[in-house]
Amino acid sequence: MALDDLLKAVDERLLSVTQSAVPVLQDASNHLLAAGGKRLRPRLVLLAHAAVNGQTPDDAIPLAVGVELIHTATLVHDDINDHGTMRRGRETVNARWGGTVALLTGDFMFTKVYQMMATYPREINAILAEATATLVEGETLQILAAKQGALDRETYMEIIAKKTAALFVAAVELGATIAHAPAEWTAALKAYAFNLGLAFQIADDILDLIGDTTTLGKNAGIDVAQGRGLAVAMQGGHTPGNGIAVELANDDFSALAEGFGDSLQEAVTKGRAKAREYADLAVQSLDVLPASPARDELRDLAYQAANRDH
Ligand code: IPE
Ligand code: IPE
Ligand code: MG
Ligand code: MG
Repeated sequence: MALDDLLKAVDERLLSVTQSAVPVLQDASNHLLAAGGKRLRPRLVLLAHAAVNGQTPDDAIPLAVGVELIHTATLVHDDINDHGTMRRGRETVNARWGGTVALLTGDFMFTKVYQMMATYPREINAILAEATATLVEGETLQILAAKQGALDRETYMEIIAKKTAALFVAAVELGATIAHAPAEWTAALKAYAFNLGLAFQIADDILDLIGDTTTLGKNAGIDVAQGRGLAVAMQGGHTPGNGIAVELANDDFSALAEGFGDSLQEAVTKGRAKAREYADLAVQSLDVLPASPARDELRDLAYQAANRDH
């Protein structure tokens, strides 16, 4: 089956596993799941499976569903934490149904993953559980660092490795493991996904600084306002300039660029260079794998992640 068909099957399964007798849980889950998103993590599961010569892609579909469901659950909770009002071009679950329903919707999605994974071996379950715990640790470190005004560059890297790269790594490891890949190939894919995850999150943080809410389909300009992200880390944890945060929250980017002076420019320029560096590293890891269309797609994904505009 072609990748697009597999992803279609993933989309269908995402909606069917989140059915519930309690309508609000199903509606709030489907609200975001049906809105799409880039589906990058399920793509990684499926491409990793194909890149190691996996013969039965159907085996990877439920794992791709599990990873995307974990991701979506963390977005629902992340939007509560970040006071987000828009996600995937729609109102966030917290904006539409309130924080309590959003909390429970995220819980519901996480729990549906447990159910789905129950028939899988311990090894597979351990990969997903460990990555999810790491992601939660990353989000927690971020909240603490922002509160304490202590987001230095090292902490920033630890946070993005945990909150974002860990799930990317799990995605490829799941795809490779279910295909019984040799250890060397799995290790190469994990190194690829780790660096891809870093590049992807740095690019996300750049877009938060210079992107607009409509193109992104989610709130732009909220990281500095909330004392986190790339620009804050570049300044050693200090939110630059009084009032800038307010401008940012209002999407007034010209005022932002002025007030920020060189430091916004610096954050964007250096961030771009870093994202490209990590994308290059990711691509280098792929050398160990046999040439295949899936390997080519993984390579292209890395460059797109670093250079994307949404
Ligand atoms: C958003 O992830 C959270 C980050 C790690 C930056 P995506 O940008 O993959 O979100 P969707 O799935 O496309 O909505
Ligand atoms: C990624 O960080 C969030 C998760 C890993 C859940 P962000 O807070 O930057 O993600 P967005 O920008 O809200 O999508
Ligand atoms: Mg967020
Ligand atoms: Mg962001």
